[in-house]
Amino acid sequence: MFTPSEQLAIQRLWARKLEQDAAGLPKATRHRNLEPDSAEFVAALAAGLHAKLLLELGGSSGLSTIALAVAARRTGGRLVSIEVEPARQAEARETLGRLGLAAFVQFVLGDAAEHAPRVAGADFVLLDCEKDDYIRFFDLLRPAPGAVVVADNILSHHLDDYVRHARARGPSVTLPIGKGLEVTRIGG
Ligand SMILES: C[S@@+](CC[C@H](N)C(=O)[O-])C[C@H]1O[C@@H](n2cnc3c(N)ncnc32)[C@H](O)[C@@H]1O
Repeated sequence: MFTPSEQLAIQRLWARKLEQDAAGLPKATRHRNLEPDSAEFVAALAAGLHAKLLLELGGSSGLSTIALAVAARRTGGRLVSIEVEPARQAEARETLGRLGLAAFVQFVLGDAAEHAPRVAGADFVLLDCEKDDYIRFFDLLRPAPGAVVVADNILSHHLDDYVRHARARGPSVTLPIGKGLEVTRIGG
């Protein structure tokens, strides 16, 4: 799915994340990017579903943003990427611009609690912000019927409450990819 330059950008972001983890940086200064395998998966899934309006909560420095923008390029759709940290989003903007993917992304700087409800009719959503917010943000979404919501860190953070919550909304499965992805189809 990814071109060599997109693949390289993902590898560089991931290598920096691993270095920061190894150095024991505090959570506030560490980049907590999506695992590359998970990025491959969400790109393929969103493209395979022909998603036209994609939404991510927690774009950070842009690893998942690259993946979802590539899916949007494939489907002729667009991605809304919400991130609250200005420096992280500025880096993502720069990276996506350099890769020629900026045309597929609308960057929104601010709190997803405020901005996510303004995005009506998304047919693919990636939840990758603070884990304590997943249930609240899931309920704030205004997705299209049949939309697919993917949430990261399900196995690494034992997000059993989120899994139960998502499964009450439609068919849902936990996949052992990366840190664990819950894939939920809203409304069956
Ligand atoms: C796990 S990181 C996201 C990694 C990103 N998806 C990637 O692949 O590079 C979580 C991000 O969510 C952002 N975040 C946390 N709470 C948020 C909120 N309420 N609204 C928007 N972004 C938020 C953080 O600033 C952080 O950059």
